[in-house]
Formats: sequence, C-alpha cells, structure tokens
Amino acid sequence: MCGIIGILGKAAVANDLVDGLRRLEYRGYDSAGVATLEDGVVTRVRAEGKLRNLAERLSHHHLHGKTGIGHTRWATHGRPTENNAHPHATERVAVVHNGIIENFRELRDELAADGMTFSSQTDTEVVALLVDRALRNGLAPIEAVRETLPRLRGAFALAFLFAGEDDLLIGARAGAPLAVGYGQGENYLGSDALALAPFTDRISYLEDGDWAVLSRGAVMFFDSANREVVRPITVVPQGALLADKGNYSHFMAKEIHEQPEVVGRTIAHYVDLANGVVALPDTVNIDFAAIDRLVVVGCGTAFYAGAIAKYWFEQLAGLPVEIDVASEFRYREPPLSGRGLALFISQSGETADTLASLRYTQQGGWPSLAVVNVQTSTIARESTMMAPTLAGPEIGVASTKAFTCQLAVLLALAIHAGRVRGVLSAEREQELVGALVGVPALMNRVLAHETDVEVVARDLTHTTDVLYLGRGLSYPLALEGALKLKELSYIHAEGYAAGELKHGPIALIDETIPVIVIAPRDGVFEKTVSNIQEVAARGGNIILIGDRSAASEVGIAGETAIEMPPVHPVVVPLIYAIPVQLLAYHTARVMGKDVDQPRNLAKSVTVE
Ligand code: F6R
Repeated sequence: MCGIIGILGKAAVANDLVDGLRRLEYRGYDSAGVATLEDGVVTRVRAEGKLRNLAERLSHHHLHGKTGIGHTRWATHGRPTENNAHPHATERVAVVHNGIIENFRELRDELAADGMTFSSQTDTEVVALLVDRALRNGLAPIEAVRETLPRLRGAFALAFLFAGEDDLLIGARAGAPLAVGYGQGENYLGSDALALAPFTDRISYLEDGDWAVLSRGAVMFFDSANREVVRPITVVPQGALLADKGNYSHFMAKEIHEQPEVVGRTIAHYVDLANGVVALPDTVNIDFAAIDRLVVVGCGTAFYAGAIAKYWFEQLAGLPVEIDVASEFRYREPPLSGRGLALFISQSGETADTLASLRYTQQGGWPSLAVVNVQTSTIARESTMMAPTLAGPEIGVASTKAFTCQLAVLLALAIHAGRVRGVLSAEREQELVGALVGVPALMNRVLAHETDVEVVARDLTHTTDVLYLGRGLSYPLALEGALKLKELSYIHAEGYAAGELKHGPIALIDETIPVIVIAPRDGVFEKTVSNIQEVAARGGNIILIGDRSAASEVGIAGETAIEMPPVHPVVVPLIYAIPVQLLAYHTARVMGKDVDQPRNLAKSVTVE
C-alpha cells in the first residue's frame, strides 16, 4: 500500500510529483505529501486526505526544487493526519515509505534512549531518524543508507532525499515493489511503471533486497549483500499505462462497460477461434495430465474468482482443488506433497499475502502459475508460469473487469485441463469454448439493461443489511456481490450458499432485509427455487437476478427484478457478474459515496 515517487528533474518537480502520485492514488489516499530541495534545504508540503488537498496547498506554497520525493498514503501506523503524512524528515534527510517496518517499536526505543524525539506516530519516522543519526555521525548519504537498511525488518520500499545533495536520490526495496525510470537528463523512482508513465517508458525493477543510487546521469544498483548488480531495462508500452475516465463519471463505470472488449481480448489470447479449441499461450507450459492436485490462492475478489474456478476444474477436468485466502494459506503450513500445481490469482500482482504464499509453494518445490493483470508485477515475475489477463489498467479500487478476465482465463485453463486429462470429449470442448466465445456479446446485452439495475439499486439505498444467495457457481458470485456492495456503499451485506440459509441465517429474514438471489437456469436451479420459497414463506423481500422464462416455469416470475438472457450454465459467473457489479456501483453512486476510492481501502495491498 502507499505509493512513492522520486524525481531528479531539469526543472521544478513538484507538479510532476503530484502527477505521478495521481497515478498511484489507487495504492492509498489517506494523505499525501512531497519534499523538494529548495536551495539545498529539505522543504515539505503535506496534506490530510486526497491528493487534491495537497495540490491545492501546492498552488499557494510554490516549490521550485528540481529534486524531490512524494507519497500517497494508506495508513498502517498512526491515524491519517497531516502530521503522520509522508515524507518524514529531519533537516538532513527526507524519506517516503511503502510497507511496514515491523521492528519499529524497538528502533523507536533505541532512538528515544539516544535522545531523539518523534513528531509522528508512524513506523516510517524511525527510518528518517536512523539515517539522520548516521549522517550526524559523519557518514555520507550512501553509507548512511547502507548502514540503516539491514536494521529494518518488514516489507518496504523507500525513497530518500538529502539536504544539500541536489543530484542524489536513493531507493530501496524489500518486499514492496520499486522501479527506476530513465529519462533524458532526468531519472525517476516510483512504486510502479504506471506512476512513471508521464515521464518515461524505460524502466528497471529492483529485485527484493536491492537498493539503488540515482543521479541525473547514472543509476547504480546494489543487492542485499551490497554487491553492485545490473538490472535490465524494460520498455513498458505507454498505451498499456495511460488510463482516463473517458465519458464516464467514474473509472468503475468505465471498467464495467469495458468488459465485453477486454474479456473478448483475453479470450482471444487463450482460444484458437478458427478451430474452437483452447490454445494456451507459451507462458503457460503445464501438463495438467501430470498433476493430481491444484491449490488455488488469492485475496478478496481474486479469491472468489478462484472459488468459481474450483467448480470448473473439478467438474470439467476431474482435478481436486484446494482453495484458501492467501493470508491463511501462508501461515497454516499446508503440506505440499504429490504432483501439484499452485495457482495464484492477483490483479495487481503485488498483494503481499499472495506473494508470500507463492514463495511458500516455491520453497515446497511446486511449480506455480500466476493469473495476473500486471505482467511486470512481482508475482508475474516470480511465478514459474504466467497466465495474463488482458484487462488493461484497472483504476477503480473495486475490482470489476479484472475479475471477469480472471474468470475467462480460469475457464479456458479448466477446459484445457479437461481435454488433456481425458475428461472432455472434443464435442464437449467445442461446446464449452463456444459458450466462452459468446460471453462478450452476452455481456453487451446485459449492459444494455443497466437502467433496470439502477431501479433496484435505488431501493437498496434505504437498507442497512442485504443478503446474497447462490448455489454452485453462483455461490462464490453471491460472496462477490456482498463484497462489492459493502465496500462501495458501506451497507452491511453477506453472501451465503442458498442451501446454508436454513442452518442459521434464515433467522434474519423479515420484510426489511433484501435477499438478492442469483438464480440462473443451471443444474441446481430447482434447489435454488426451493430456497427462494423458504425465504418467501417468511415474508422475505426477494430480489431475483435470473432468467424470467425459467422463473415463470416455477411460478416465481414476479420476483425477477433483474432479468437475464438465457446463458450456458458454464459461463453464468461471467455474465451474472455484470448486474452484481452494477448493483453495487449504482447503490453507492446514488448514496453519494466515493465509488472509485471507497474509504479505508487501497487498490494494491502490499502489507499483510
Ligand atoms: C475488491 C477487490 C479486492 C482485491 C484484493 C486482491 O473489489 O478489488 O478484494 O481483489 O485486494 O487484489 P489483487 O487481485 O491485486 O491481488
């Protein structure tokens, strides 16, 4: 979490720092700040809240320095006040930090015993004070950082600026991403290539444990043993990095509407359209016939994509699947015996718990396959194989198009696994691939009925609790629906397997609680209908997302609030994701919530 940037420029850098931070706001937006060298003096401007508050402050407080660092914060230690905003600084050094310094209490005690005082509650300030002490003891900036880094435990990326050193920035990476960008007589540091997109497309990524010394004319990299190392320069296409809202009022709306296009593009990457079969890209070189166990790991929405994929891999490929959220998987010490494959799902490719889980399976000797949207991310680079989702940059904090692209990739993988494991006949594969290829057109049809969803959303704005129910593939989608609604509108929502209702949650049912039932015509439709009737019998307020013809056959057409077209059961999650996302979006929008940047969240969760 948190975004960091540093610029060694040819002209005043404050505006460029803010520009870069704007692209990093997805990593957190509790506060923001910059520090530049004004005639060699470290000068900070910081503001609580969104970046626009910082920009407003900078419009009165002009900075002229050509060397600077900036930060947008997702608070971990200390409330999101101006005092706790980065950069943290002394008169000799300023630092911005993404991550957590786990041993900061011990370091704080040591520094306090040394007579040093603190002006914030953050873990970051100890880094500034440790480097400051080393500088006061006579070390040059590079030595001061080299001496300080081994004292820090945790996951972090850091950027340092030094008083009187107009041609120097230092960056360090241990567990949180950091990139160097190369310009013409300018050089940059940033949390990712997106932040640096306005300035350069030539990027080097620091490896874990690396630190880098930048001047305008050169960049030197050192590994954790302080040996000078070379890190390759990658050219990151600008088109992939530049994102704007277009005609939409929110990134989330744009991203929901982009789904037919980006899901179509993703499917085309995994399907031989001429022959109607799955054709995996070279980056996925796994023999599914040679494994007998699949472990799937992710967080949040990515986890729910994995939970849907569990049904596909088990039903279409006969492959046993174990699935867990990354924060549990990494610590529960699951035995990795047998011929297994570990599958990691992550939009950002930087989620700390998912990355730690990947490393755990690699230590266990298992091959890993990462389904990622950011192909330059740490998870993409560290996994044995990569299956890209071609969703393009996802800026809205709530995941939408990355989720459906993940589903498209996972379904293609499951169909492929079914074929090579001898479970699917050629005809069945063609039928399933046909259903997958038909997804973008169906998505367009559903999007055309957005106003129906808006009507339901207006009703939800008056409620405080919502239940989502589904069975089979629609069960994880019910969980995803509840997550989307609560994170965007702050309305309490829970998802349940419809058959679980009678084991407890049915006690909640009365006429005040909307019960959203995801009820496609699939193999468990009649079971879902029984559950709907149980809710109706208790006066429940049912909102059906389903196929009206199927609903009328069983006498519940009147409950259909959001009508869906007939859909092949295997692609239900991809199509029904759209009303689920729109419902959360419009509810939050009508309630006046900050749809693209809900409170307390960040897009890329690089702390555990
Ligand atoms: C919810 C959402 C999050 C992410 C989760 C994992 O809308 O976006 O739950 O899915 O934080 O992030 P990635 O996919 O980047 O690992």
